[in-house]
Amino acid sequence: MTTTDADLVPFLLRRPGASFPPPEYAGFRDRPGLVKAALPSGGTVWLVTRHEEVRAVLTDPRISSNPTHEGFPRPSRTVGAPSADDVPGWFVSLDPPDHNKYRKALIPEFTVRRIRSLRPAVEEIVDRTIDQMLVKGNTADLVEDFSLSVPSLVISSLLGVPKIDRDFFEEKTKVLVTLTSTDEERDKASEHLLRYINRLIAIKAKRPGDDLISKLVQGEILTQQEVSGISMLLLIAGHETTANNISLGVVTLLQEKQWIDDERTVEELLRYHSVADVVALRVAIEDVEIGGQLVRKGEGIVPLVAGANHDPSMFERPHQFDPARSATGHVAFGYGVHQCLGQNLVRLEMDVAYHKLFQRIPTLEVAVPLEELQFKYDGVLFGLHALPVRW
Ligand code: HEM
Repeated sequence: MTTTDADLVPFLLRRPGASFPPPEYAGFRDRPGLVKAALPSGGTVWLVTRHEEVRAVLTDPRISSNPTHEGFPRPSRTVGAPSADDVPGWFVSLDPPDHNKYRKALIPEFTVRRIRSLRPAVEEIVDRTIDQMLVKGNTADLVEDFSLSVPSLVISSLLGVPKIDRDFFEEKTKVLVTLTSTDEERDKASEHLLRYINRLIAIKAKRPGDDLISKLVQGEILTQQEVSGISMLLLIAGHETTANNISLGVVTLLQEKQWIDDERTVEELLRYHSVADVVALRVAIEDVEIGGQLVRKGEGIVPLVAGANHDPSMFERPHQFDPARSATGHVAFGYGVHQCLGQNLVRLEMDVAYHKLFQRIPTLEVAVPLEELQFKYDGVLFGLHALPVRW
């Protein structure tokens, strides 16, 4: 299909007060070929919305995750995705075979079995966070007081941050993901965290413990600089993503009052909300045909995860939350070699968070009418700016 100006649509259709996934995705799926979208930073990208083609893009070796390639999408004028040249160990931006050694070093720490062993630690973190919320009274902002705290505390525990430093860690990571933080505040928080992590790595190299950083530095495959980059990647990749899923899940579960069985419910929430819709950015490094569309070398591609997860050819009645369905095959965690490393941890965190919240606070409810909730329609990740609750 040839592209005309009529095919150019604003990047991602994100705008306050819209709905999610953008209703336009259905129209895109029905059209032959792909849809071209204008980037706010200038230039265009191809949007992929059909489930089958999203998976094809994420597994095609002619399509790269490396932002150093000409034409890689830059979602904003000032900020591009970091490359592994900028941050050693930032392996989400590497293609195989460079990507392989990082994944191999980390996989043993994220298996179902290994993550299952973290349940008591995650339960303790969730319980403590609920305790702190309850002490404050009978209202809270669940985003600030719960959802953002839990993933940060879990990752710091996984990395081996001593308990005494976890408040510092949590405070700095929150600054990184809060939309109202200024660039200066964000740079400062990132600098503090990096300095802290580098000190921690030096300590663990001399006196290793039973934690992720110790294992990575002892492995002798990775440099200390790479371990530092990996730690920052885990922290950033796993923080707001998980927090948004927890908050949205609480709203959906309270609203729908449906909880079939734990695993299916969590899987359906991941599919239904698809918070990381525009996270997996790519560029063609050879000419390639996707869904009948010729994509030329050097052209950017955005496989839309929410598009794929709401494709009716894959999931019947996709806009309906249905915990009884099997959401297996969803691509909320991406697909292929970069498929989310932390997915088993997310499942555990969501499961523990919902169980503990609804068990310990059975009268928990959203404190404002649902129409007044401020959703992040305009952010890179879908989520909630705040979630006022009471009990
Ligand atoms: C990759 C989503 C939580 C660590 C990804 C990708 C997606 C994703 C879509 C693929 C990116 C791409 O193909 O370019 C999510 C969602 C989460 C979540 C929706 C929460 C609900 C986490 C957590 C961690 C984590 C908790 C770490 C503890 C990573 C890493 C990668 C990744 C390291 C890169 C993997 C690689 O390149 O091999 N995630 N993520 N994520 N995620 Fe997650």
